Amino acid sequence: MTGHPSTQTAHRDASQEYEILRFEHVTIAFDGDPAIQDISFQIRHGESLVILGSAGSGKTVILKTSIGLLRPESGRVFLFGEDITHRKELDLFDLRARVGMLFQEGALFDSLTIEENVSYPLLNQKTLRCTESEMHNRVEESLRFVELEHTLEKFPSELSGGMRRRVGIARANVTKPELVIYDSPTAGLDPITANNIMALIVKERDLRRATTIIVTQRFQDGQIMAKYRYDREQQNLVAASPADVAGLRLMVMKDGRLVFQGTQQELEQSRDPYISKFVLRH
Ligand SMILES: Nc1ncnc2c1ncn2[C@@H]1O[C@H](COP(=O)(O)OP(=O)(O)O)[C@@H](O)[C@H]1O
Ligand SMILES: [Mg+2]
Repeated sequence: MTGHPSTQTAHRDASQEYEILRFEHVTIAFDGDPAIQDISFQIRHGESLVILGSAGSGKTVILKTSIGLLRPESGRVFLFGEDITHRKELDLFDLRARVGMLFQEGALFDSLTIEENVSYPLLNQKTLRCTESEMHNRVEESLRFVELEHTLEKFPSELSGGMRRRVGIARANVTKPELVIYDSPTAGLDPITANNIMALIVKERDLRRATTIIVTQRFQDGQIMAKYRYDREQQNLVAASPADVAGLRLMVMKDGRLVFQGTQQELEQSRDPYISKFVLRH
């Protein structure tokens, strides 16, 4: 399990490591212009993936394709082991309900309160029937996780950019999904707020043991995912041992193509000029 002490890592059994997401040679084009080309990768339960790349490199297109919001021109996509490449929208509902998503810019509903925003994914779960008080409790718990339980009655416009992003994290995790996807969680935030957001993402990853995918332009975000784990006793991030983060993979996108895929160590050792530039530039 990513980000957990090696004592727990040793207890991993093979049956838990089922496949969460797989791309096989996926290409997506808009009006004949490829946005992503020949992308292949796989992520298993408990692993995490960081997709680095500058603006327009195809990161959001990969995420939307992962949950069937975009359809491949060629190649195949498997979500929780099921081929969703040509699956109809209505038949994707149950699989999508198992994924928590933080969309770019947080994407909260302006006219709904924070409580209503965070309860939205719960209302959409057919299998999860909660009473109103259970729903309230889960929303409160999820907001407490990001230290915003006092904002239930507020509207998004009353919160700062960093707080809105934290609400987005609470909403993405409120159903305790097996897979959580964060699209550019730190974009537009100052460096300190950005680091706080990443700390919350690592905390969600490690306490809930959720399979986590983040896409980002900020090299530092990947480094936080790769070098820290959340410690329950200290209630803070601490330096991770290599075993703690053995399940972390990094990818680098450039102009719709995957130019790197590997571990943190492999990324640091890469001699590819583009990757080295990307690594040093941030
Ligand atoms: N709905 C769309 N229609 C046309 N082009 C799109 C659409 N979505 C994305 N693109 C193009 O695909 C490329 C990758 O976009 P995107 O995945 O959003 O990049 P980013 O890495 O910044 O998230 C860009 O050139 C973008 O203009
Ligand atoms: Mg994007």
